[in-house]
Amino acid sequence: MKELRVNLCENSYAIYIKKGLFNYIGEEIKKIYNNKKVVIITDENVDKFYGKIIKSNLEKNDFNVYKIVLKPGEKTKSVDELLKIYDKLLDFGVTREDLIITLGGGVIGDLGGFAAATLFRGIHFVQVPTSLLAQIDSSIGGKVAVDLPRGKNLVGSFYHPKAVFIDPNMLKTLEKRFLYDGMAEVIKYGCIRDKKLFNDLLKYNSEEELFNNLEDIIYTCCSIKKEIVEKDEKDTGERMILNFGHTIGHAIEKYFNFEKYTHGEAVALGMYEITKKSEKMGITDKGALQLLKKILVQYQLEYEINLENKEKILEAISLDKKNKGEFMNVVLLKKIGEGFIKEIKREEMINFI
Ligand SMILES: NC(=O)c1ccc[n+]([C@@H]2O[C@H](COP(=O)([O-])OP(=O)(O)OC[C@H]3O[C@@H](n4cnc5c(N)ncnc54)[C@H](O)[C@@H]3O)[C@@H](O)[C@H]2O)c1
Repeated sequence: MKELRVNLCENSYAIYIKKGLFNYIGEEIKKIYNNKKVVIITDENVDKFYGKIIKSNLEKNDFNVYKIVLKPGEKTKSVDELLKIYDKLLDFGVTREDLIITLGGGVIGDLGGFAAATLFRGIHFVQVPTSLLAQIDSSIGGKVAVDLPRGKNLVGSFYHPKAVFIDPNMLKTLEKRFLYDGMAEVIKYGCIRDKKLFNDLLKYNSEEELFNNLEDIIYTCCSIKKEIVEKDEKDTGERMILNFGHTIGHAIEKYFNFEKYTHGEAVALGMYEITKKSEKMGITDKGALQLLKKILVQYQLEYEINLENKEKILEAISLDKKNKGEFMNVVLLKKIGEGFIKEIKREEMINFI
C-alpha cells in the first residue's frame, strides 16, 4: 500500500492508496478509530456499486453502521441537504466521539466534510474519495464547503480528515465523462510541477494503459498537492498555484450557468486559453501550447472556446471571491512542468482572455 503523510501539526493525517482497498476498509478504519458508531455519507450512484460491500465489511469489523444516501450532483451540495444531514446524524444519536465516512466524489466529500466540521463543532471523519477528481484533489487539503444560490463554495471551512483511503479500482465504474474531467486536473499537476508526469501521460496509448498506471499517477498528484498544502494550508500564497486554468475556467463554468461544462472541462479550456496568451507574450516557452493541445485532445478534453463575449467572462472573473481588489493573481507557465503565480492589475486580465 502506498502511503503519504500530510504534515500539518495537530491536523496531520495519512493518505493510503491501494487498488482493492475498499474490500477491507473496515480493517483499515479499525487501526485509526476505536469507537463503534460509523455513519457513511454517500450518493445513490456510489451506493449502488459500493454501499453494500463497504457496509458489510465495516459490520464484519464490529462497527455499528448507519448510512445516509443522497441524490448525486452539485445541487446536493446545498444548505437544505446539509440541514437534512444534521437531522439524520442527530436521529442516529451521533456524538463527537463517533466517525463519519464520506464515500463519494467531491460533492459528498465537501458536503459531508462540512457537516463533520460543524456539527458539535467537529466530528472526526475520513474521506473515501471515489471520483478521479476527488482522489487527486478535493479529498486532500481540508477544504469543505456547501454552495449558496449566489455562488459555489461560499460557506465553508478548513477541516482535515483523520485519514484518506483511495482505491483506484473504484474509478472503473466512473462515467467516462467524469474520468476525463478528473484527467484535466491530473494534466494541471503535470503542467505546474511535474514534466515527467506530463510526458508519461502523453505516452499512454490506451485507457487500459492509463488504468495500469493510475495508482502511481494518483500518488504523484497527491504528493504534489500535499507538499503545497503543507506550505500554505489556508490558501493565501503558494497554494494558489493549484489554480492554473481555474480563473478563466470558473468564469466559463459560470458563463454557461454550470450546465455546459464540468469543472475539469472548463479548467482544460482555461489552461489552454491563458497559455495561448502567455506564450504569445513571450512569458511561456514556445511549444508549450502545442503540447498542451496534444494532451488535452488525447484525454478527450476540448481545448478551444470562442470567447466572443469577453466582457461577460471578465464580469464573471471579477465576481469570483478570489479576485476582489485592485490586484489579482493569475497562474502562468514558464514551461511545461513549471508554473508560477503572477500578480496583475485587475484591468490587465483582459490581456489573458
Ligand atoms: N475541497 C476541494 O479542495 C475541492 C477541490 C476541487 C473540487 N471540489 C468540489 O468537488 C465537486 C466536484 O467533484 P466531482 O467531480 O467528484 O463530482 P461528484 O461528486 O458530483 O461526482 C461526479 C459523478 O460521479 C459519480 N461517481 C463518483 N464516484 C463514482 C464511482 N466510483 N463510480 C460511479 N459513479 C461515481 C457521482 O455520483 C457523480 O454523479 C465540486 O463541488 C467542487 O466544488 C472541491
